[in-house]
Amino acid sequence: MEKAWYKESFVYQIYPKSFFDANKDGIGDIKGIIQKIPYLVDLGVGIVWLSPVYKSPMEDNGYDISDYREINEDFGTMADMKNLIAKLHENKIKLVMDLVINHTSKDHPWFVRSEKRDGKYEDYYHWEPKKRNWTSFFGEDAWSYSLTRGEYYLHLFAKGQPDLNWENENVRNDIKEMIKFWLDLGVDGFRCDVINLLAKDKDHPNGKFRLILRGREHYLENPRLHEYLKELHEDVFSKYDCFTVGETVFVNPKTASDLVKPENKELNMVFQFDHMAADNHIIKWFIKKFKPINLKKALSKWQKELEGWNTLYLENHDQGRSISRFGNMDYYYQSATLLATIIYFQQGTPFIYQGQEIGMTNAHYTELSQYQDIETHNIYKLGRKLLLSHKRMMKKIRLMSRDNARTPMQWDDSFNGGFSKVKPWLETNENYKIINVKNSQSNEKSILAYYKKIIALRKQFEVIVYGDYEDIDFKDKKIYAYKRSLGNEKLHVLCNFSNQNLKIKKYDFLNDEVILKNYQDITPLVMRPYEARVYLKQSETDHQS
Ligand code: NOJ
Repeated sequence: MEKAWYKESFVYQIYPKSFFDANKDGIGDIKGIIQKIPYLVDLGVGIVWLSPVYKSPMEDNGYDISDYREINEDFGTMADMKNLIAKLHENKIKLVMDLVINHTSKDHPWFVRSEKRDGKYEDYYHWEPKKRNWTSFFGEDAWSYSLTRGEYYLHLFAKGQPDLNWENENVRNDIKEMIKFWLDLGVDGFRCDVINLLAKDKDHPNGKFRLILRGREHYLENPRLHEYLKELHEDVFSKYDCFTVGETVFVNPKTASDLVKPENKELNMVFQFDHMAADNHIIKWFIKKFKPINLKKALSKWQKELEGWNTLYLENHDQGRSISRFGNMDYYYQSATLLATIIYFQQGTPFIYQGQEIGMTNAHYTELSQYQDIETHNIYKLGRKLLLSHKRMMKKIRLMSRDNARTPMQWDDSFNGGFSKVKPWLETNENYKIINVKNSQSNEKSILAYYKKIIALRKQFEVIVYGDYEDIDFKDKKIYAYKRSLGNEKLHVLCNFSNQNLKIKKYDFLNDEVILKNYQDITPLVMRPYEARVYLKQSETDHQS
């Protein structure tokens, strides 16, 4: 296993709009992030991933970029950005930017010129004289009409997010220059938005009949994708000490391996979504009851089958909060820490999404109008069109809306959770008086304190980073256990993923040192609800291995 800095650090994802508002306009900003660097240092993370801060009309909160080389004024200026990079680096924290290159905003000058068939920009996007029947990830038609051009353009996301035509060499060159621009500014890597959607079939025939994502056979697993990624790697990424993590949808360990096998020289790792489907039928809006075994099966599959480096995450800005989906509010501390134990002792780069480390929960909202997210509103409309009741749609939204993750960060128990001095762009979760950073910091038994321990342990023991993975009692529906081994270090994770007391087997590691636990004491043969323990043994005999 080749060692690398990006395998050894925790990554902390910041959703800038909701992190900290320094200039008192209700919207988080870059200066706000700079103010909170001491918090990140104290937490112990080594890398920050910033969701988009580029210039954007904000139809999809910045994932619709109208200028890749400018900072959106809500977030600050390029000077702020340079300052952020410098300050993070001074504190030994690397910075990963979001790279949204499957699509731009419709306000991007490339699209404006493409609509006018202006010179080289004519084919920067996908255009068709006739409408195609494809549907978008946001549940709408994926081909919309441009009055200016008199043709239809493809947008796999919102109407305002036209897909770039990667067949066009000029597009690829412009994107490569833009990436170099950021790397030259000192950025240390990229999270590449929906990167496996880049390549589309040359012509765009109608899609097969499907309930969701009609047309997807014309862009998923298109072999040209590998050419584009190899080109980006060869011409840009390989020339810098940086890393890439691709967001990939509808992948399996085999197709993902093709993207991350080191010898393929494409991406360093990918985010996959199998474990995010532990409470739904692949599409998050088709909810099913959460079963721990489904989470276990999905995570274990990737540990065993991926030929490359994994990512370890439970949350991001597109997902409901993990405690609300997979945890149990009656065992709030125990289930949140159990989830962290399960995920972060596996092999891969660990990612924390802002607020997860203090156990932030899904929003308390009851009205549709409290949600701002474009996907949430589109899905509501689609559901109602398909005759699902308001009540049913709201139930789905309360669990799965992306705004659950986007409520302002809860810093303390003051007005708006200390996020902003004025009304925030999205309502603060009403539980901020109890769940907040300040409370967590003053409590040794907080979820935050537990996260800090995990982060510190990962720095201390190489087995957590590079050790081999092996399931224990894989078929057990309540016990989640596995082993990691590296040289003379053996680590065992043992968790009771249920709300009952469980008698446990006499595992042979029960006498090893307990390096982490979420109950105060250890009861030898019984595990209490949501109990999590990590055992470590450093044997001296095979010290040389
Ligand atoms: C994935 C991003 O994470 C999500 O927030 C965004 O809406 C889509 N890609 C489109 O960019």
